Amino acid sequence: MTPEIQSQKSRALCELAPVIPVLVVGDAARAEGLATALVAGGLPVLEVTLRTPAALAVIREMARVPGGHVGAGTVLTPDDAKRAKEAGASFAVSPGLTETLARACAEIELPLLPGAVTASEVMRAMELGYSMLKFFPAEAAGGAKSLKSLAGPLPQVSFCPTGGITLANAPDYLALPNVVCAGGSWIAPDADVASGNWQAIEARAREAAALK
Ligand code: 3PG
Repeated sequence: MTPEIQSQKSRALCELAPVIPVLVVGDAARAEGLATALVAGGLPVLEVTLRTPAALAVIREMARVPGGHVGAGTVLTPDDAKRAKEAGASFAVSPGLTETLARACAEIELPLLPGAVTASEVMRAMELGYSMLKFFPAEAAGGAKSLKSLAGPLPQVSFCPTGGITLANAPDYLALPNVVCAGGSWIAPDADVASGNWQAIEARAREAAALK
């Protein structure tokens, strides 16, 4: 799957809702309840970061939840991509981009949403064939103002900003012409996931899903 097609597929996923919840889940027993709450709240696209030993099991469980599209986040290496795909991930998100990772995702037919911040990083991603990128770490890298500046010389690239996004600042990003959706962990905080407070998570998902 060429990077061009990968970006088409990533973009289609990003268009499904204004926000992609970024999930750090340590216990696979929480996966089904969490994904069900998020999908019910109107956020069908979920990013499970490969940052806990349980992450692949979480992806496996969440991939079974009807209406959801589960991807793996923090995909750094070809091996991460391969294990994520085997677990049932339908896309991969990376904080950056390497040729090795791009090649691996092409080979195993896993759409990659790679990260870029600077004009050179964006141009490099474009050279490789990507037009749908993650802008990470969004707030630390200058926020909506930086992203807006990139739209001038590089209007053909669209972004999903993540890193420091909240319900309060998400609208600033979503108003930009080069932003399709935003990603963030605020929807499913650790305490609510650990205690299984699905009502609170579904309510936060609903608020996020209503963002324009
Ligand atoms: C991440 O990979 O951690 C995401 O960018 C989410 O960042 P956040 O926790 O600041 O929302």
